[in-house]
Amino acid sequence: MKVLSNEVYIIGAGETKFGELWDKSLRNLAVEAGLKAVENAGIYSKDVDAIYGANSLAGIINKQENIGALIADFSGLSADGIPSLRVESSTASGAAALRDAYLSIKSEEYDVVIVGGVEKMTDIHGSDILEKSSSILDREWEAFFGATPAAMAALIARKYMHDFNVDKEALSMFSVNDHLNGSRNPDAQFRNKLTLQQAMNATAVADPLNMMDCSPLSDGAAAVVLASENYMKKNKKEGVHILSSAVAEDYLSVGSRQSIYTLTSTKLAAEKAFRKAGIKRDDISFMEVHDSFSIYGLLELEDLGFAEKGKASKMVYDDIKLEGRLPVNPSGGLKAKGDPYGAVGVGQAVDAYRQLTGKAGDNQIKDARYGLLHNMAGTGASSIIHILGE
Ligand code: COA
Repeated sequence: MKVLSNEVYIIGAGETKFGELWDKSLRNLAVEAGLKAVENAGIYSKDVDAIYGANSLAGIINKQENIGALIADFSGLSADGIPSLRVESSTASGAAALRDAYLSIKSEEYDVVIVGGVEKMTDIHGSDILEKSSSILDREWEAFFGATPAAMAALIARKYMHDFNVDKEALSMFSVNDHLNGSRNPDAQFRNKLTLQQAMNATAVADPLNMMDCSPLSDGAAAVVLASENYMKKNKKEGVHILSSAVAEDYLSVGSRQSIYTLTSTKLAAEKAFRKAGIKRDDISFMEVHDSFSIYGLLELEDLGFAEKGKASKMVYDDIKLEGRLPVNPSGGLKAKGDPYGAVGVGQAVDAYRQLTGKAGDNQIKDARYGLLHNMAGTGASSIIHILGE
């Protein structure tokens, strides 16, 4: 087997604000983020070998397929014939596109690749969007019976809280931390701080989860520019090293899993990612995790290997804070920064790039050296992990 040695770096990053962006279309968002990343990287269209565009639901929400061509066309790159492909892997589409682009450079096919992620979820009404966003579940065994992503997360939360005697406060604290960090991130959808009382007493969504345990449905786009080590040296560029990329799958339907509160895909992907990166968990300076619901934040701390099963609640009061032992979601996470499905994983890469180049503004972590990015499809059917650093 060929040993892949061409190292891959992020040399530029940009994103739109996440939120309810009524005045911007899918293509406006994608191009705005892409141009910011390209400008930040200081490259020109002649440098670009390919585009990988992540999107989850544009076909059923915006009635627009062919996203790769749309992005290339609207950014003025079609005339050059630059390949532009869409990558879809539900809510992990962003990290899937990042990984495909990373592998395309590793394999020495390309030197410079733009990775974009875009989603526009607020153009349709409440119950309609709920039905469409539930298409990321198993249609026959879950969604057909009325299950939504929130309902599935609630079932998992109920069983977890019962088996490990965890109270609701631990879940709420995860959201309190996200909102505090989001309040300092100008790109975040929600910039209000949340008290524990507000988080505990919000309107119920799917018991035991309330509104403050749920990520919102968001519009937004993000983009990063990846480059090979060869290109960097030739063009005297600096960047953030992608130390590893790993993916693993689990059963699509939660009912088929051995333990409903174990994210097996996350466990497996984490093992691979740390092995490939050659660093230890203690080396991680910060993490961005896929906390579409607060319960997942706790499960991810455990299945990424930072807490024993059932014990993550011990970390949510101090450890995960910006100034804590293991800062989690300095960007505000999905709860406060927002959850535009296909853009999330790329947005995490934008945040990590900013942290690791000392440009994270008010959320900057002192001496940040290694960041872990965790992007998950739906209830955990796939997990994709990237470790970035020196
Ligand atoms: N947290 C905080 N505020 C939220 C919010 C959230 N998760 N979701 C919506 N809001 C706010 C809106 O900004 C709006 O505020 P405003 O009145 O000041 O403008 C208000 O609440 C009502 O918004 P609306 O869009 O009507 O909310 P909704 O009741 O239709 O939806 C949820 C709320 C929580 C049900 C919806 O956000 C949801 O389904 N989230 C889960 C997303 C999901 O399934 N992700 C899957 C990932 S696997």
